[in-house]
Amino acid sequence: MQTKNIQDIVSLSKRRGFIYPGSEIYGGFANSYTYGPYGVELKNNIKQLWWKTFIQNRQDVVGIDGDIILHPKTWEASGHVGGFNDLMVECTETHQRFRADHLIEEQLGIDIEGWDLDKVDALIKEKEVISPATKKPTLGPVKYFNLMFQTEMAKTGEGQTAYLRPETAQAIFLEFKNVLDSTRVQIPFGIGQIGKAFRNEITPGNFIFRRLEFEQMEIEYFIKEEHWKEVFESWLTDMKTWCYTIGLSTNHIHEYEHPQEKLSHYSKRTVDLEYDFPFGKKELYGLAYRTDFDLKQHQEHSGQKLVYRDPQTNEVYTPHVIEPTFGLDRTVLAVLNEAYEEEQLDGEDTRVVLRLKPSLAPVKIAILPLIKKEGLPEIAKDIYHTVQLFGNCEYDESRSIGKRYRRQDEIGTPYCVTIDHDTKEDNAVTVRDRDTMKQERIKIETLVSYFQEKLN
Ligand code: GAP
Repeated sequence: MQTKNIQDIVSLSKRRGFIYPGSEIYGGFANSYTYGPYGVELKNNIKQLWWKTFIQNRQDVVGIDGDIILHPKTWEASGHVGGFNDLMVECTETHQRFRADHLIEEQLGIDIEGWDLDKVDALIKEKEVISPATKKPTLGPVKYFNLMFQTEMAKTGEGQTAYLRPETAQAIFLEFKNVLDSTRVQIPFGIGQIGKAFRNEITPGNFIFRRLEFEQMEIEYFIKEEHWKEVFESWLTDMKTWCYTIGLSTNHIHEYEHPQEKLSHYSKRTVDLEYDFPFGKKELYGLAYRTDFDLKQHQEHSGQKLVYRDPQTNEVYTPHVIEPTFGLDRTVLAVLNEAYEEEQLDGEDTRVVLRLKPSLAPVKIAILPLIKKEGLPEIAKDIYHTVQLFGNCEYDESRSIGKRYRRQDEIGTPYCVTIDHDTKEDNAVTVRDRDTMKQERIKIETLVSYFQEKLN
């Protein structure tokens, strides 16, 4: 359970340049967001840590970077053209659209996953489910709504429909053969990718939790069928370790086993890692056993052989796949939520502090000359250039030192270095720790080794 308020996180995100509402000067554009200067640093730090953890530090996983617009046949083969639908209802008075499953869950407490359209339609009529827009039973018939964004290609005369990818996974399956032929990977091995995915969600919302465009960090891990159970378990452990590495409390992470009858068309087992977001326990990541569904489908639709020959035994087979998938925007939201704290200080005073892991913090060290004159900025700028080796650092000489500390607390900067009048005498500076607010006097010549110990 979480006691934090999403509005506090939304307002901190805007106030401090993490995440802005998109297209604001045109009055906003529903559910679009821009990562601001600190948000993009945080997001990039998460991406880099993920890439290092799951691609570079593992001998058995390699990375690729595929296109957003793939051959349209990809989505026929994957089942997205035919089956990537939500059940949608439209209010007949306002023409606002809603997800039928969400309305039924909210109003009747019934989970309709796996139900067909007619059954859902009948339930809505029988129980008089109301339209949130009119507060009356003014909902029209239930329809399938495909979540893929379509676009028209210019290069052929009559135009050809293409799709913005709704998951990064398929680019990986398309390159299975190329990776096999061009590298030294042997089963078991994985191919990972980070990139944007697009879904025409009927009801996006909860800040950056459900977006129309978002980023995924995914791995397709190719195995021999008989090993799927132990590989699945080991990826589940690795995913939970990752959550811990980025600072999410184990108490806030829950496993949700999808019941057999509700599994996606490609999966034989799926476990979600759910996180206690401020608006409830919701899916953060997923782990699926996709069997050999995708490779077989692409083999059939492309006519290309997508198989593996075991170099030792010469056995030829279609590999099976375990898929760990991580939503990046949901990671950013969970990390912000976990780190956010309103701390009661002595007396009436409170401070907002983001207790981010230093490896994720957008700014590692802030360099703050006490005043803008008497040679302090010059010393501070020298220190700023030196400590940049630890990552993104910030130089700030405006406003009172107390206000500058609070600003850095809200950005989540682990250390502030203050240069004062004594610095000129003792060649030392004050280093303030974000979490404890304790201050230490450190000689300038030892600053690099001091931060090496603290930050690496
Ligand atoms: N390749 C498998 C796949 O795409 P998914 O559960 O549909 O599985 C994977 O999506 C992850 O992507 C989710 O666990 C979630 O973190 C993220 N995600 C899905 N839809 C999203 C949306 N509309 N906005 C933000 N993140 C989303």
